[in-house]
Amino acid sequence: MRVLGIETSCDETGVALYDTERGLLADALHSQVAVHGAFGGVVPELASRDHIQRVLPLVERVLADAGLSIDAVDAIAFTQGPGLAGALLVGASVASALGFATGKPVIGVHHMEGHLLSPLLATPAPQFPFVALLVSGGHTQFFDVRAVGRYRLLGDTQDDAAGEAFDKTAQLLGLPYPGGPALAELAEAGTPGAVSLPRPMLDSGTLDLSFSGLKTAVALRARDAANGGDPASLPADRKADIACAFQAAVVDVLVAKSLLALDVTGFATLVVAGGVGANRALRSRLHGALSARGAAVFFPEPRYCTDNGAMIAMAAALRLMEEARVSAPPNSASYSFSVRPRWALP
Ligand code: KG4
Ligand code: ZN
Repeated sequence: MRVLGIETSCDETGVALYDTERGLLADALHSQVAVHGAFGGVVPELASRDHIQRVLPLVERVLADAGLSIDAVDAIAFTQGPGLAGALLVGASVASALGFATGKPVIGVHHMEGHLLSPLLATPAPQFPFVALLVSGGHTQFFDVRAVGRYRLLGDTQDDAAGEAFDKTAQLLGLPYPGGPALAELAEAGTPGAVSLPRPMLDSGTLDLSFSGLKTAVALRARDAANGGDPASLPADRKADIACAFQAAVVDVLVAKSLLALDVTGFATLVVAGGVGANRALRSRLHGALSARGAAVFFPEPRYCTDNGAMIAMAAALRLMEEARVSAPPNSASYSFSVRPRWALP
């Protein structure tokens, strides 16, 4: 079965074609960094307008790269939520229009289910069951994953997501948008231990997390270092030490909770997905900590950690295989659509 996937939930337009026999056939991504850079963050209306410009050319490119026409596609998938309402509507309406024009089924996918299953894009792919750590700009959650569609929430952030804390700390230090990757890069130049920060809820004994206290602590430290002035004006080496301490605190908490999640479930496999999963320090610490225990950790390639169409196409294809939903022929009612800007998984 071949599924065309369209992702437009935030600031990346992603389109991909996934084949359940052959894997990913083609994928294309357009990042809106240049659109939002001057504003220091995502401007929802500009995001929607840019998705409108990009999505059809990306669909054409993906089909051309795969050497296939739309007739060779069995279903069309789009990110139905969570995300920015206007941005989601672009993908939803384009997918539904393509479905209507071609008579193909259209399926809405949960963005976080896409992230959760994205490690299955890697070779070798992890085997069920596993613990999934979803760590993105809006989510920091642990799931018990038994099979496609069988997810149980084990723990969640009580306030900010880890990616959000990365982005806000980057903003505090005057780093350019997108903040998370810029902060991670700066952290690598810092001296470990030069600045100390708390590890919130490290020993709480639960799989819940909290990052807003850390965000406040880093802001206080940075203002102290700047003698009450703007931390963005600190010299680069001081900023690097702060970035390094912040990243170490986040990584320590995520590693400790990941080990706890494996203890609680008794599973021997962890998968990590979402934008913060691209973080090099997190990847190497988790590799070390899990291999010391004889457990395995799987990450998608860094480009499939952040938003992309491949995870949406694959999640839809796996769901359709499970539910055999394609067997119901679509009718015109199948092409009405809605989006779910706030939507909990499962
Ligand atoms: O999954 P994603 O692309 O979008 C959401 O669904 O949120 O994740 C984006 C988040 C942002 O907060 C971004 O700063 C963070 O992931 N991020 C990183 C890195 N790359 C992206 N955080 C830390 N280190 C990175 N290398
Ligand atoms: Zn995402």
